[in-house]
Amino acid sequence: MSSRSMRVWTCPHYGGPEVLALENRPVPVPRAGEVLVRIVATTVSSADARLRSCTLPRGFGLIGRAMFGFTGPRQPVLGTELSGVVAAVGPGVAAWQPGAAVIGFTGGRLGCHAEYRILPANGALVAKPPNLDFAEAAGLAFGGMAALDFLRRADLRTGERVLVLGAAGAVGTALLQLARFRGAHVTAMVSAANLDFVRALGADRVLDRASTDFTAAAETYDVIADTVGATTFARAHPHLHEHGRYLALAADLPGMFARPVGTKRSLAGAASERPEDLRELARLAAAGDLRVAVGRTFAFAELPEAHAYVSTGRKRGCAVVHVSDPPAG
Ligand SMILES: NC(=O)c1ccc[n+]([C@@H]2O[C@H](COP(=O)([O-])OP(=O)(O)OC[C@H]3O[C@@H](n4cnc5c(N)ncnc54)[C@H](OP(=O)(O)O)[C@@H]3O)[C@@H](O)[C@H]2O)c1
Repeated sequence: MSSRSMRVWTCPHYGGPEVLALENRPVPVPRAGEVLVRIVATTVSSADARLRSCTLPRGFGLIGRAMFGFTGPRQPVLGTELSGVVAAVGPGVAAWQPGAAVIGFTGGRLGCHAEYRILPANGALVAKPPNLDFAEAAGLAFGGMAALDFLRRADLRTGERVLVLGAAGAVGTALLQLARFRGAHVTAMVSAANLDFVRALGADRVLDRASTDFTAAAETYDVIADTVGATTFARAHPHLHEHGRYLALAADLPGMFARPVGTKRSLAGAASERPEDLRELARLAAAGDLRVAVGRTFAFAELPEAHAYVSTGRKRGCAVVHVSDPPAG
């Protein structure tokens, strides 16, 4: 540990945004194979808000507390993703140089609501595409990693028809674009205020969720991606074609074990956190094939306000928190 200190937001116990506390901690020193990143921007994701409040899908109460901590998160510094600048590298690190602009994903290891974060040099760490600003770069990973993983598991094919429930969120905006990029026809279901927003992201067809009940319509899909737990496999499967897939990104405990119905199946579980997926997302973003939707931005001192916003469950794209100034030039 160095003698320099940094500010971090901690969540000492479960509760509302008011439980979050700003603390000083020593800036960590990178060891062999590690990189120290000065964070320019991070996000408050739906996972951060869930973890802070211990609001887990139905059936996960006790399991969740056993996994994450009984009275508060075991890792009290939340935050799954960052953009920033390499501040120092540990012994043996040749791939990164101080000053490099990067994107990092810590996923379940969290720790990005801080001014600095250590990351493994060969982990989920990529060069920031120059066409993304630091705010956009901070929001690439959380929704993108989940969307990419579930679409791979679904083996999405060109020409398939996809319905995205919760298409305006961090996962939904990434999923609808990645599905379109793979040549699928995408229907996005959102609230009225988000219809133009998802249309601009490339949705082929948009539906207002207040006035449309897809389970009452005759239409069927190859894939129904439920990014928010809006429905269940039991309700969705009659609206899937043969060999259709229901993507249960926010499944409750019974939903984790939903059995196939004929040739139709439900895919659930935690998304993988593969470094190569972050590299793929960065490649797509650099090529202009994937945009990061930044809904609202907050200053570092306003991180509890960002949590309050995310906890509404109605955020648009990503809620980005500016941590420090980007490098000049
Ligand atoms: N399985 C995994 O590994 C994994 C990974 C990442 C995330 N997740 C989960 O995925 C979920 C979505 O994450 P996110 O970050 O995209 O969430 P988010 O950004 O908070 O998005 C929520 C969006 O859903 C819409 N919405 C809210 N309530 C709805 C409802 N009842 N029916 C339909 N749409 C509704 C809202 O848009 P409108 O106002 O337009 O409706 C909002 O924009 C979270 O539960 C998260 O925990 C799972």
